[in-house]
Amino acid sequence: MKFTFQNTTKVYFGDEELENLAPELLNLGKKVLLVYGGGSIKKNGLYDKIISNLKNSGIETFELSGVEPNPRHTTVNKGVKICRENNISAILAVGGGSTIDCSKGISATVFSKTDNVWDLVEGKYPIEKTLPIVTVLTLSATGSEMDCGSVLSNMELNIKSGLIHENIRPKVSFEDPKITYSVNEYQTASGSADIMSHIFDVAYLSKQKQMEMLVNIQEEVLRTVIKYTPIALENPSDYEARANLMWASSWALNDFMYCGVMQSPILHAIEHELSAFYDITHGHGLAILTPNYLRYIINDETAPVIYRLGVNCLNVKSGLEAKEGAKLTADALAKLYFETFRLPSRLSDLGIDDSKFEVMAHNCCNGLFGQGKLSALATLEERDVVEILKM
Ligand code: NZQ
Ligand code: ZN
Repeated sequence: MKFTFQNTTKVYFGDEELENLAPELLNLGKKVLLVYGGGSIKKNGLYDKIISNLKNSGIETFELSGVEPNPRHTTVNKGVKICRENNISAILAVGGGSTIDCSKGISATVFSKTDNVWDLVEGKYPIEKTLPIVTVLTLSATGSEMDCGSVLSNMELNIKSGLIHENIRPKVSFEDPKITYSVNEYQTASGSADIMSHIFDVAYLSKQKQMEMLVNIQEEVLRTVIKYTPIALENPSDYEARANLMWASSWALNDFMYCGVMQSPILHAIEHELSAFYDITHGHGLAILTPNYLRYIINDETAPVIYRLGVNCLNVKSGLEAKEGAKLTADALAKLYFETFRLPSRLSDLGIDDSKFEVMAHNCCNGLFGQGKLSALATLEERDVVEILKM
């Protein structure tokens, strides 16, 4: 096993920490592009708080609003134009994964030779110099606040793909659990399913030998999300629940969990196809796929890994034959997502039928994460992906 670990994002965690926002931005210059989504930050008062904070500190603020969930490459391009025309010194992303990912796309494109981020996604130009990004996280889910990935959607081509580069990792992220009190039940549940999927996809559901310390920590993060999500659903203003979910979100995908493991994030590869064609909520798509993926891949080799998850995180009793235990694990995960998290359980609930399953299977096996097939705990070919989608 060998790996290099580096994560350079500075995190301010807690409810008084926003007072450090202006000083951190001033370290980067005096002209900031504020990027945000469809207006939740105006409803919960965060926008006013940030704007007055920046104004009082002499920071000139430009705005890009309306970033879509599943952010479009065209929105990124609008941000690039604003940055170039106004000589912006830093991007301030205030939102969830979509807003942060849009900001990363802008950051990567501003100094490049194109004004279209999709040229970078397609590898026509390299990512070199980037604009620094500061984030204020508003939703616990993607880990984008501490990672170096950006997932972008091109709805003309029905492709959801992205950028991965060290230079787009946020310089500073602010994590105030109280900001997530206003996240609704559906987004809270979907975000939690996303956090769990990051653990599953990048590390836990693997056939590679991992350090036991890391596997134990992965399970602890899973147990934390399983424990605190129902509490946050019952009481959206429970600080302890929101704080645990927020920090779990960052650590599930900040490179630490998967030291030494290299594999296709199978669930994400398939889910990105669902979002690309049907514009669905990422975490919900993952929740529907995961129990069915587990059921589909159970065999002698995979069953012990799946069953361990059940015993250590989902109250499945120990001592059973591994395949039987793995099946019960998939059932327990389905119960968690569809009963406890209260997420609808079928793709048809999201208006998805089987008409695009073949093309989605082809695309994910040959896209960002696949080379003809997807390989992690199991290896999936296109026909396997179609079968899982049908389930
Ligand atoms: O747009 P606004 O009005 O802000 O509302 C958002 C949006 O409707 C709302 N919301 C966010 N914070 C809120 C809030 N509502 C009330 N109070 C708050 N405090 O929630 C909705 C969803 O927001 P979004 O940013 O889309 O959610 P999420 O954080 O789940 O991000 C999803 C995107 O991230 C990508 C996904 O594919 C998807 O495009 N991912 C990014 C990753 C990365 N960069 O590493 C990895 C992930 O696996 C994922 O693929
Ligand atoms: Zn995800």
